[in-house]
Amino acid sequence: MKKTVAVAPMMDCTDRHDRFFLRLISKKVMLYSEMIATKSAIHGDRKKILGFSTEEKPLALQVGGSDKKELSEVAKIAEDMGYDEININLGCPSKKVQKNKFGACLMKEPDLVSECINAMVNACKIPVTAKTRIGFDNIESYDYLNAFILKMKKAGCKKFIIHARKAILTGLSPKQNLNIPKLNYNMVYKIKQENPDLKIIINGGISNIQEIKKHLEKCDGVMIGRAIYQNPFFLVDIEREIFEVKNHPTREEVAEKLLNYLEKEVKLGTKVNHIMRHAVGLYHGQIGSKNWKRYLSDNMMARDSDFQKAKHIMTIVQNNEKANQAI
Ligand SMILES: Cc1cc2nc3c(=O)[nH]c(=O)nc-3n(C[C@H](O)[C@H](O)[C@H](O)COP(=O)(O)O)c2cc1C
Repeated sequence: MKKTVAVAPMMDCTDRHDRFFLRLISKKVMLYSEMIATKSAIHGDRKKILGFSTEEKPLALQVGGSDKKELSEVAKIAEDMGYDEININLGCPSKKVQKNKFGACLMKEPDLVSECINAMVNACKIPVTAKTRIGFDNIESYDYLNAFILKMKKAGCKKFIIHARKAILTGLSPKQNLNIPKLNYNMVYKIKQENPDLKIIINGGISNIQEIKKHLEKCDGVMIGRAIYQNPFFLVDIEREIFEVKNHPTREEVAEKLLNYLEKEVKLGTKVNHIMRHAVGLYHGQIGSKNWKRYLSDNMMARDSDFQKAKHIMTIVQNNEKANQAI
């Protein structure tokens, strides 16, 4: 079976500009949108909220909701707009998300979730997938998770992204919920072992090639969030080591293409900082990283930054490239 590496959906991070940037580095990974609430997808400015460029594909739309009528409407919209997958968020523990009854709190309601998934599956032909946790609050039980997954399978979901850490629904902030409960990869491995027909993507704390290879021996894919957002060139290692792609772009080529994109987008009314904020990690771990970050923060991260400032950016890039080649 084909192995998957996906970049995790991350609110305020994986918007269309970030995805375009990541796609300049990797052609092979699967990309996900930030979570979009059903009501915004249905009633909001569709182009602004759901629009994307075809370069970003393959691309999944992640949706948050628990109303089957709304979810099925969004599934159809996603299909019509050209998304490759629609994913329901069953893993976010934030208070706001719980108040609206979506995210991880839905793990408590397997019947409702299966009705929602069934409605989505009937509304579109693209794959309907779920992103969930291994448990919540005081429930971290293989049997509970397996029963939940089997119920969703019966409703028509065949691909699951499992964040290998339970969600604490009260008392922890969303940030703490990404680090505090201990990771339990074995529970995810067991789900795959006992359900070989399902596509199981493991998520949580994966940060290097060795770890990816280890997980791919047990699961169909990995999903990585923070390690890629902080260090987008990690994607080059992934292309080379996991997908055996021989030619990969240099940072200079990526920066040049990003500037072309920036120029076009600015003419359409996009703010410079909305694009460039995603490129802060381009020189992560390299000589010149500090200069790069300083240049971006001094010139391109303010709300009113203008495109003229971007023109000098290639000088920083070229200096960094020379310094890194010299070692
Ligand atoms: C800033 C941020 C925003 C996130 N937003 C979402 C989201 O919109 N939907 C979702 O399912 N998970 C979201 N997550 C969780 C990630 O998708 C992922 O499950 C988590 O970061 C663990 O993976 P990692 O250790 O590789 O980062 C977010 C995480 C971060 C750090």
